[in-house]
Amino acid sequence: MKQRNTELFPHDLAEQLASQFHFLNEDPYGNPRLFFENSGGSLRLKAAVEAQTRLSALPDCPERTHDIALGIRDEINKGEKDIRLFLNAKSGTIASSFTASKIMFDIVSVLGASIKNRNIVTTAVEHPSSYDACKFASEANGHELRVAAADPKSGSIPLANILELVDDKTVLVSVIMTSNITGAVHDIGTYAAAIRGKNPDTFIVVDAVQGAPHGPVDVDSWGIDALNIAPYKMFGNRGVGFAFLSDRVASLPHHRLLASPKNNWDVGSPTPAHYASFSAIIDYICDIGRYFTENEDRRSLIAEGMQRIHLQEQALLHRLLHGSANQPGTKQMENVTVHFEEANGVNQDLILALTFNNMSCAEAVDRYGKHGVLVYARESSSHYSKRILEAVNLDAIVRVSPIHCHTTEDVDRFLEVTQIIAESHVVSEAGR
Ligand SMILES: Cc1ncc(COP(=O)(O)O)c(C=O)c1O
Repeated sequence: MKQRNTELFPHDLAEQLASQFHFLNEDPYGNPRLFFENSGGSLRLKAAVEAQTRLSALPDCPERTHDIALGIRDEINKGEKDIRLFLNAKSGTIASSFTASKIMFDIVSVLGASIKNRNIVTTAVEHPSSYDACKFASEANGHELRVAAADPKSGSIPLANILELVDDKTVLVSVIMTSNITGAVHDIGTYAAAIRGKNPDTFIVVDAVQGAPHGPVDVDSWGIDALNIAPYKMFGNRGVGFAFLSDRVASLPHHRLLASPKNNWDVGSPTPAHYASFSAIIDYICDIGRYFTENEDRRSLIAEGMQRIHLQEQALLHRLLHGSANQPGTKQMENVTVHFEEANGVNQDLILALTFNNMSCAEAVDRYGKHGVLVYARESSSHYSKRILEAVNLDAIVRVSPIHCHTTEDVDRFLEVTQIIAESHVVSEAGR
């Protein structure tokens, strides 16, 4: 079995990275706060926010030919190139929309309408944006909706559960890269190859909103048709979702200004600030890569940077689970259950799904908050979580989601608080 990495970033690098984020150690009111809720929206890079503001201040239309307009156009082009490099999209189209959800609905709607009365395969742990898009497209076009079942132990979708649903009438398969609730990571390259083995023509659509900030993405080698990301989950800002579309998807009939190229998916004028802000994120990832490699090729730096982020997060996960000589980890604590991780092993993202024997998840989250730790309860009362929690036989979890710029001190502080909560004797009715 593959061993999880336990080696953390060198101290000087960790310090350098930490200084680049807003509100890493305190909230906007100046109160000390550990922000372990990055799956709901990640800590923001100062440079990404600054780039957004810098470009937003300019009134000039990028379609004009004066110097400022040309400069803005360059920022857009650079941003789009950086999205391609980040995704390793050597062909196809990059599209943008207000949200990752909106662009997923756009893509799935177009694919669903490309043919009638077939089937669409999705999974039980998809985010509602892709799941509901598949349901909507199925109902609109007479397709049967087939839902691959989850393995409740790992919170992942075993490949066999998808393959048994794919046949020669499958229009598209939608599979999430990493679950934002269970933290299970799907090996998209392997999944896509096996799906193609059953149906070489089916469209493969990937939700990488949770996965992309935590490890390398490579649409070219994965051979998929569409993939979306959300900058606000990867150290940037809200207000935009980006997607890669393969050439065959990009040229299907879709909403566009009809005089624009057939593969253009951007309806209306682009927002330059989103592109400049994304380039600032990529500069940051490249700086991490540059610490470890002398190869100055930008894609190589991105791949190295993302791999290093992934390794750092695996080391933080190890400490969250096993603690240190002075501090027990979550796995050693009475009253605490860690879900999914054991079954996933190295295929577990830096998301801990916890439940407590002595209180409800909502109460635990409240107590974390009183100790200056922000985490979130995913509960079946929320339509964002209900179907996914049911698929893994749970009613609620406390989701703990730090990111790579956190340190062992942060993890140890979290563990101390967890121990206080776990040892608390107040048993709430809701927790029973
Ligand atoms: C895995 C995943 N996919 C898609 C989305 C949708 O993002 P948005 O609501 O910004 O469109 C989210 C947001 O939480 C997510 O976690």
